[in-house]
Amino acid sequence: MRHNFDEIVNRRASDCKKYEAAAYPADVLPMWIADTDFAVPVEIADAIKARAEHPCYGYPIESFAFEESAARWEKVRFGWDVKPEWVKYANGVLPFLMYAVRAFSHPGDHVVIQPPIYPPFPAIIQNNGRKVVENPLVLDAEGKYQIDFEDLEKKLADPRAKLLFLSNPHNPAMRCYTLAELKQIGDLCIKHGVIVISDEIHCDLTYKGYKHIPFGSISQEFADNCIVLINPSKTFNIAGFRTGAAIIPNRRLRDEIQIAIVNNKNYGRTIFGMISFITAYTQCDYYADEMMEYLQGNRDFLMDALSQRVPRIKLAEPEATYLMWLDCKDLGMDQEALKKFFFEKAKLGLNDGTTFGRGGLGYMRLNIACPRATLEDAVERMEKAVSAL
Ligand SMILES: Cc1ncc(COP(=O)(O)O)c(C=O)c1O
Repeated sequence: MRHNFDEIVNRRASDCKKYEAAAYPADVLPMWIADTDFAVPVEIADAIKARAEHPCYGYPIESFAFEESAARWEKVRFGWDVKPEWVKYANGVLPFLMYAVRAFSHPGDHVVIQPPIYPPFPAIIQNNGRKVVENPLVLDAEGKYQIDFEDLEKKLADPRAKLLFLSNPHNPAMRCYTLAELKQIGDLCIKHGVIVISDEIHCDLTYKGYKHIPFGSISQEFADNCIVLINPSKTFNIAGFRTGAAIIPNRRLRDEIQIAIVNNKNYGRTIFGMISFITAYTQCDYYADEMMEYLQGNRDFLMDALSQRVPRIKLAEPEATYLMWLDCKDLGMDQEALKKFFFEKAKLGLNDGTTFGRGGLGYMRLNIACPRATLEDAVERMEKAVSAL
């Protein structure tokens, strides 16, 4: 491998939220927020350092290289022909959810989500005075989440439903939706006049046997009825540079989002954000490939280790993302006890499943984007703590 993913990078004292904001004691291993413990590709570090050498950091120009690099990534990685003109910038994927809410719905309208789900989805809807309508994912016999299409249609058919917030791949359900599923979702949304906001921030993070399909690549009709959100931040560990891109093939939707962007005065790009985004999407394909090979090893190790050494903590087959959704119901604890157990006994800093809403009870989320040695340590901690129960 060109990049050394085994390298332990000391992230303490680097103003890093994972290690510092949670105020964990030194003996707790933080494995929660969705960034990686890996150094960025050397190409990004070099480009940032080179620009930092120049002593002026005034307003940057808005070069079209940003839009072109997003289009390149979609074409080369997923085979989707994206025109650079379809791409819009914001300082994150989440602002686009807010712009979409403001551009395409009115207070009181419904936005459909599929819990358990990344917590800002419902927060953005509620904070903007719209109604969260849930189409809960349902567990199948293997512990995998499936879409309840009958319920989805019911929710979309309400004339107040204006948007569906889709997480694909899904955080925290670890699902990489199939073409058949995406087609069914898209057909229902078109039938009922609901726009799909497809958050594809985890698109690069799929495991063997699973392939990400950009929602807008499926058909012209789907392209015209969606906004696809991407960001190299999760893959390349550059969330601190605050970038994000929306791909909006339809001219009308694009113009309406542009009004929301301007009304919210979010049109300033950052020098280092542009450099990191463009470098990631034009020079670092190898890093994305190698990291997934490494994470495949982490994921396989974790699945094996849990089933053999800690069978009371269950993990359904993860299809995508480095965020492992641990089913801890067999530990027989209520959520407060479960949180305490992981924090005080296992000494692991994980995400509380209930923060992901309905369906999160009895779950904890573990981030495996770390060197193998760190993950081995985490498994040992879980094994020891569970066997002491
Ligand atoms: C599904 C999903 N969307 C969005 C984000 C964050 O996006 P951003 O930092 O680009 O606003 C995350 C981060 O974990 C995520 O999991």
